[in-house]
Amino acid sequence: MSKKNLIIDVKNVSRYYGKEHSLVKALENVSMQVYEKSFLTITGPSGSGKSTLLNILGFLIGPTKGEVFFEGKKMMYDDYDKMAGFRHEKIGIIFQSFNLIPVLTAKENVLVPLIIQKDITEKEKENRAQVLLEAVGLKNQADQYPAELSGGEKQRVAIARALICNPAVVLADEPTANLDTKSAEEVLKVMRDLNEKSETAFIFSTHDPRVIQYAKEKLELKDGRVV
Ligand SMILES: Nc1ncnc2c1ncn2[C@@H]1O[C@H](COP(=O)(O)OP(=O)(O)OP(=O)(O)O)[C@@H](O)[C@H]1O
Ligand SMILES: [Mg+2]
Repeated sequence: MSKKNLIIDVKNVSRYYGKEHSLVKALENVSMQVYEKSFLTITGPSGSGKSTLLNILGFLIGPTKGEVFFEGKKMMYDDYDKMAGFRHEKIGIIFQSFNLIPVLTAKENVLVPLIIQKDITEKEKENRAQVLLEAVGLKNQADQYPAELSGGEKQRVAIARALICNPAVVLADEPTANLDTKSAEEVLKVMRDLNEKSETAFIFSTHDPRVIQYAKEKLELKDGRVV
């Protein structure tokens, strides 16, 4: 088997919140790698640093100590505009509570990240949205509003939206937390399927044994350290 390409290299990262007597060491000396086509779960008790790590991987917050390399480049978290551009181009984020825009249809929601993209024609945008909605099993729901969709369907719209810019990495913080068993299964199958068909790496934080069962790689945190 050929060696997969390294996408993210996290080196000795610590992340602290607050200071002095209220200092919280959310992550302490964490090193981890993410390769192409990963399907990685981050598990651990509440407060172990899962969301903090995902937020660092998504360039939403920077580390207090240590370094993160993305596709071989050292990430400069202080350069806010650059990091935002990077996030837009390389990262898709799926939220626990879906975060769909209620006044837009499923298809329009999927298209939101492409609004600022000037180098693709409207036709190509439509095309991509169509293909993705089909891939997540929502071809016939494209014109429905979020209020007219089930939880699982909303999450699948969010998955299509996360993938519309062809990200290298999709991040999801507890993606099945608000879903019933059947919807969670559907959502997981869709993600595994998309993961098989592309080079995109999927990374989840989760407490959900059903999600962990689908994992190809696992990372466990305890008190901010890798177990
Ligand atoms: N913005 C913040 N300011 C201060 N402390 C924070 C902040 N965010 C997280 N923390 C603290 O950092 C630690 C790790 O939190 P984090 O949210 O990363 O854990 P988690 O593993 O995602 O937990 P959960 O399973 O409950 O979602 C916790 O002690 C938390 O209280
Ligand atoms: Mg969390």
